Amino acid sequence: MNPKKIAIVFGTRPDTIKMAPLILEFQNYPEYFKVITIATAQHRQMLDQVLDVFKIKPDYDLDIMSSKQTLATLTARIITGIDEILEIEKPDMVLVQGDTSTTCIASLAAFYRQIPVGHVEAGLRTNDKANPFPEEINRRITGCITDLHFAPTETARQALLKENTDPKNIFVTGNTVVDALKYSVVDNFQFTIPELTKIVDQKKKIILVTMHRRENWGKPMEGACKAVKRLAEKHPDFAVVFPVHLNPIVREVVYPILKDLPNVHLIEPLDYLDFVNLMAKSYMILTDSGGVQEEGPHFGVPILVLRYVTERPDAIDFGTVKLVGLDEETIYSTALQLIEDKAEYTKMSNAVNPYGDGLSSLRSIKIIMNYFGFTNETVEEFHPR
Ligand code: UD1
Ligand code: UDP
Repeated sequence: MNPKKIAIVFGTRPDTIKMAPLILEFQNYPEYFKVITIATAQHRQMLDQVLDVFKIKPDYDLDIMSSKQTLATLTARIITGIDEILEIEKPDMVLVQGDTSTTCIASLAAFYRQIPVGHVEAGLRTNDKANPFPEEINRRITGCITDLHFAPTETARQALLKENTDPKNIFVTGNTVVDALKYSVVDNFQFTIPELTKIVDQKKKIILVTMHRRENWGKPMEGACKAVKRLAEKHPDFAVVFPVHLNPIVREVVYPILKDLPNVHLIEPLDYLDFVNLMAKSYMILTDSGGVQEEGPHFGVPILVLRYVTERPDAIDFGTVKLVGLDEETIYSTALQLIEDKAEYTKMSNAVNPYGDGLSSLRSIKIIMNYFGFTNETVEEFHPR
C-alpha cells in the first residue's frame, strides 16, 4: 500500500496549537500517511514558541511575517509561497485549520491545483462579515473549497448544512484544542518565567486578560483597557496578568492605559504551557480570543468575551462564558459582579467543555483513512456530556 501524502499548513499561534495534536497523532500511522508540515510563519516569535513546545520542525518555513503586515501583502506572500511547495510536493490532501489568512489562502492554493482540502474546525459562523474580521469570510471561503469538514460541534455542523454543504462530508470531531490541553496541563507546574512565578506566589486572585482582534483595534480596545484599569484600582487584592500580543497596533493601545498600575502585569506573550497552566490558576478571564474561549471551560474558569458576537456559542449555552461586548461600563460592572457576587461566580464556574474530549485528532485521522479507502470504519462522533 502506498501511503498518501498529507500537507499540513499552519502559520499563527492558534492554528499551530490546534494542528499540533493532529501532527503528533499522524506519527502513529506511517503505513497510511506521509506528512509534510508547512509553516507560513504569518507569525514569527509566537509561532516559534508553539513549535518549541510541541517539538515540531516544519519541513517548509515561508518566513513571511513583516511588521504591521497588511491583509493584502499577507495574501500575496502566502499564495505564491504555498503554491511553489504544492508544485514540488504534489500532496494528496492539504489540511488547514481555523480562520486565519494562512488557512483561507492555503486552501485556495490547494483548490487551484485541484488538491482535496480538509478543514479542521469547520463550520464556525457569526454570519456577520465584519465580526470577526476578516475571519468570518476566511472561514466561509475555506468552507466553499473544503472536501472534508471537521466540525468541532453539532452547532458547527448545522451551520454548514444551512449553506447546503453535503452532509456526508461533515464530521463532528470535537476541537483539537482540547487534545492539545492533554499534553499541557499538569499539577505543580513550574512556570518558566520568574516574573510569573512571583505573581502567582503573591496568592492574589488572578484576572487573566488577552486582546488582539482587528475589529477591536482602537476605541473598542481602549474601552476594554479602561475597564480593566478601573477593576484593578477598585480591587488591589486582585492581580491582573495581561500577556500582550506582539502586534504593535495592540501594544500602542494597551501600554499607555495600563502600564503604571502596581497590580497590573503587562508581560510578553507566554509560551503555550505557561499560558494554559496560568489559565488553570485564574479566577476569571477577559478575552477576545477564539481559542481561549474554548480552553477556559475546561478549567471551569468564568470567561467574559470582549466581543459583540461569537462563532462559539456553545459555552455560553453551558453558562461558563458571557459575551460582554466592548463597552467600558458593561465590562467593568459584569467583571465586578463576578468578584463581589459569589453566587454568580459559582454559577459560571462549571468545568464542562462543549468543544471536545481530547479525541478529535484520532477521529479526524480515521475519517481521512476512510476517505482514501484504507478503511471503512464507522467513526463515532463527538458528543459533549
Ligand atoms: C492573526 C490572525 C487572527 C488570529 C491571530 C492570533 C489573520 C488575518 N489574523 O491576527 O485570525 O486570531 O493571528 O493571534 O490571519 N507580530 C509579531 N510577532 C508575532 C506575531 C505577530 O511581531 O509573532 C506582529 C507583526 O507586526 C504582524 C502583526 O503582529 O504584522 C499582525 O500579525 P497578523 O498575523 O497579520 O495578525 P494578527 O492580528 O496577529
Ligand atoms: N496563548 C498562548 N500564550 C499567550 C496567550 C494565548 O499560548 O500569551 C494561546 C492560548 O492558550 C490559545 C491560543 O494562544 O490556545 C489563542 O491564540 P490567539 O488568542 O492569539 O488567537 P485566536 O484563538 O483568537 O485566533
